[in-house]
Amino acid sequence: MPTRPQLQPLSGLRPVDAQPGRSTARLRIVGAAHTDAHPRTATTVQAGPFLKWVGGKKRLLGQLEPMLPADVSRYAEPFVGGGAMLFHLRATRPLTRAFVADANPEVVNVYTVVRDRVGDLCAALDEHEAAYLARSEEGRKAYFYEVRAQHPMDHEQTAVERAARMIFLNRTCFNGLWRENRSGRFNSPHGRYANPRITRRETLEAAHRALQGVEVRMQDFRDLPTTCREQRVDFVYLDPPYHPISATSSFNAYAAGQFRERDQRALGEVCRELDRMGVRFVLSNSDCPLIREIYDGFSQRIIRAPRAVNSNAAKRGAVNELAVSNFEVR
Ligand SMILES: C[S@@+](CC[C@H](N)C(=O)[O-])C[C@H]1O[C@@H](n2cnc3c(N)ncnc32)[C@H](O)[C@@H]1O
Repeated sequence: MPTRPQLQPLSGLRPVDAQPGRSTARLRIVGAAHTDAHPRTATTVQAGPFLKWVGGKKRLLGQLEPMLPADVSRYAEPFVGGGAMLFHLRATRPLTRAFVADANPEVVNVYTVVRDRVGDLCAALDEHEAAYLARSEEGRKAYFYEVRAQHPMDHEQTAVERAARMIFLNRTCFNGLWRENRSGRFNSPHGRYANPRITRRETLEAAHRALQGVEVRMQDFRDLPTTCREQRVDFVYLDPPYHPISATSSFNAYAAGQFRERDQRALGEVCRELDRMGVRFVLSNSDCPLIREIYDGFSQRIIRAPRAVNSNAAKRGAVNELAVSNFEVR
């Protein structure tokens, strides 16, 4: 008999039987949740994004929610990033299957580690936190650049070390934004937070519980129709890097390589294929002529979004985005 942790299921979620160490864990709807998280905080924190991510959808969930189907059961999200929609659906829909992917290997690694090894991750983050906070301002800066320089492409690291490095950098860099250069190396400068909390154990443990049974893969969006067929997915949320509305307006360098017009068009073809397959989808993107043209014939709604990614505070404010879908909204 597995030991039964004192966990309350998150609202709307039935407990799942996790299979730590397996990237292909299935959601099983009976049995106790296996977790190495401390049960102390189980009832207090709602799972949500543990990374600050460019284009994160947390603040738009209220506007997107009326467009989402009530009966999602088999879910896929090909551009997971900070995962705001995944955590939202996990808490509000009775998912039996969830599949998320991203092209960024660090994102895929951090989700896998949070799902399977949150205790080890918190211990590694505690070490970063203690080392960082003990230093002077100059010492903290030097520590940050030292960790930043240890890119997993050049330095052998365990999955836990890589995940801890990513979260540490995300918590201490300028604006908390994950930005990479063309060769895929994180290059945001050091930020200056007086006393950043680096471990945030409750947030990570809540995410750990919500990720039990979720399959995480490094995958290009072009493989999505195959995944949907194999997994009999019934709803997909797509949140790609946005098409820039002007030459300088948008930041879309999450992963090595830019997301260009040809990628937006290829994604449009993927969505048309999902539609032919009878898979419901909602897609977010910028409101511009190219995106309106690519999704011509589908429902298009305007969403008002805060525009945060601008070094010039005067250019922040709100901007229109599009939410496209292929089914009747309530
Ligand atoms: C707008 S962000 C997603 C934000 C996410 N919805 C959130 O709430 O934080 C876009 C994501 O797409 C990923 N990405 C970029 N190109 C990709 C590709 N070709 N296939 C899959 N993912 C890709 C990026 O690494 C990034 O995490």
